[in-house]
Amino acid sequence: MYYPVFRPRRLRQNETLRRLVRETHLRLDDLIQPLFVVHGRGVRQEISSMPGCFHLSVDELAKEAKEIAAMGIPGIILFGLPAAKDAVGSEAYAEDGVVQQAVRAVKDTVSDLLVMTDVCLCEYTSHGHCGVVERGQVKNDPTLELLARTALSHAEAGADVVAPSDMMDGRVSAIREALDEEGFEDTPIMAYSAKYASAFYGPFREAAAAAPQFGDRRTYQMDPANSDEALREVGLDLEEGADIVMVKPALPYLDIIWRVKQEFGGPIAAYHVSGEYAMLKAAGRLGWIDEERVLMETLTSIKRAGADLILTYAAKEAARLLENRP
Ligand code: PBG
Repeated sequence: MYYPVFRPRRLRQNETLRRLVRETHLRLDDLIQPLFVVHGRGVRQEISSMPGCFHLSVDELAKEAKEIAAMGIPGIILFGLPAAKDAVGSEAYAEDGVVQQAVRAVKDTVSDLLVMTDVCLCEYTSHGHCGVVERGQVKNDPTLELLARTALSHAEAGADVVAPSDMMDGRVSAIREALDEEGFEDTPIMAYSAKYASAFYGPFREAAAAAPQFGDRRTYQMDPANSDEALREVGLDLEEGADIVMVKPALPYLDIIWRVKQEFGGPIAAYHVSGEYAMLKAAGRLGWIDEERVLMETLTSIKRAGADLILTYAAKEAARLLENRP
């Protein structure tokens, strides 16, 4: 079977042959576009460290959602910037909170787009942490009730999937219980299960104004050096009733995606996060890389590692490239 009998180059001779033997296919169906919603009307303001991403008011967001659905992208995930922040993140679970309004508006405008919501407190708390703070510490169990209320308020507004990103222990079962009690037993939970304490979230914290005001998130998000622990986290979330588990960030954690896929199968989501996006954009702008090719190679590698769905700020761009549209 060795050279010259087997010549691997035979099947690489032209694009038609390469297409025939290609193993991994990135598809429109794999993509989720994250969006940032703010109060006000007619707001469409670009986020400086995330070119091509915008702060959108509810009216603008509804238009954007319509366009995304028309492109064939199956879903969006919403992040909200509240009017005011307080110690317990009240707007996160307010009936007329910015995300709740956005969900209703999108659902009224487009019928065939999945609306996912990020369930967390950090954008809504004055201290910027993902949980309740007592004596300088982020408290796990008192946070669970607020997360459950947040998820329930999203479901009541019409969210199709709720996605807790806080990394408190036990949040998936707390949310599952709260949803089931109110008749939302069919609302899936996509859990940010292996979420690392990553510097790659930098631009997002500017975009969502959600940087912690003291300390960091290392007491609840995972140590980037750990891999076995990711399997325990994913296993726990699945036991608690998570329908989709997520690994985040994506590209620096392809090995984690791979291990989770081997151990548990799917569906697995991977979050190609703000810092990954910003690096791509920056190098592209400087002319140091071919941005489009690097983007598609990156997303393909995430898929090849085992991700079934990919949350990426470049979803629209990737969709255009997949469809060969200008
Ligand atoms: C909220 C949340 C964060 C991200 C998603 N949900 C920030 C964080 O945990 O610090 C990051 C997304 C990104 O960087 O693109 N907890």
